[in-house]
Amino acid sequence: KARTVLLATEKAFAAAAVGKIESVLKEANYTLKKLENYKGKDDLLAAVAGVDAMIIRSDIVDQAVLDKADKLKIVVRAGAGYDNIDLKACEAKSVTAMNTPGQNANAVAELVFGMMLVSARNNFDGTSGFELVNREIAFYGFGAVARAVHKLAQGFGMKSFAYDPYIPADKIKEMGAEPVSTVAGLFEHQYVSLHVPLTDETKASINKELLMKMPKGGSLINTARTEVVHEADMIEVLKTRPDFCYLCDVAPKDIEPFKAAVGDKYGKRLIFTKKKMGAQTAEANDNAARQERDMGVAHNQGYPFGDPQNKDYSIKGSKR
Ligand code: 3PG
Repeated sequence: KARTVLLATEKAFAAAAVGKIESVLKEANYTLKKLENYKGKDDLLAAVAGVDAMIIRSDIVDQAVLDKADKLKIVVRAGAGYDNIDLKACEAKSVTAMNTPGQNANAVAELVFGMMLVSARNNFDGTSGFELVNREIAFYGFGAVARAVHKLAQGFGMKSFAYDPYIPADKIKEMGAEPVSTVAGLFEHQYVSLHVPLTDETKASINKELLMKMPKGGSLINTARTEVVHEADMIEVLKTRPDFCYLCDVAPKDIEPFKAAVGDKYGKRLIFTKKKMGAQTAEANDNAARQERDMGVAHNQGYPFGDPQNKDYSIKGSKR
């Protein structure tokens, strides 16, 4: 019997990318089952029964989903962040979990610059803004996305700094950024761009103490996960520091206290995208949907496709 792969994407991929997935699977004699733009968890729970593999985006794969997925062997998160997958529950069922890091990195990097430029030019409201040249940007996490931002920053004539506990300082230097030895050290620079996964360690870790250290015009750019930033602290910092900016890919659930903190500076000092938009480009949709198999990375046991060790330091392995 042909094996079945479920494509479960609440936010669908580009049709062309889905077509490519379909033809790869057809050639390998697999059946593709599509659940795109679905509206509720029940649809997902019904669709996972009997499938051998799953391709997802930010779709939640938790215990409830795994309980229904009686044949599941592998789940591939087409994208970088895999905080939507319950790895422990996968492991308990011997389900391999993989992601496709780097595939949407350029899309996110361009969004970072888009938000920086909109903020620096006061949302094009006719008032005088400032240039990015010679300004400093510090990266918390220096994986694929941060490095793509760094490349653009070099083009803009900015100076880059980076802290990443998984990457040796000399590697960071080799890539043209100044290594920083502590998280707090990043906040001495005007721009701090977050590129860390959401983990117990990073959750709500960007707090008032760090943010208040930032120099005049300090701007935090968050294209990671909103939960990495301590919400109440952020609202307080926005209120107490009229020079401070927060640029974030996707608004928190309750946007009102944030808006109230900045008043008519919403769209300049405070920028939120309507939906998570970092990976929402034609190119990223295509890339993330069909990463070559030897480039995917497994995050638990049962790795089927070769060496899971990071070849270019972009993946979260054990701390060095
Ligand atoms: C990622 O982790 O790759 C991005 O956040 C993209 O997420 P998405 O698939 O929901 O657009």
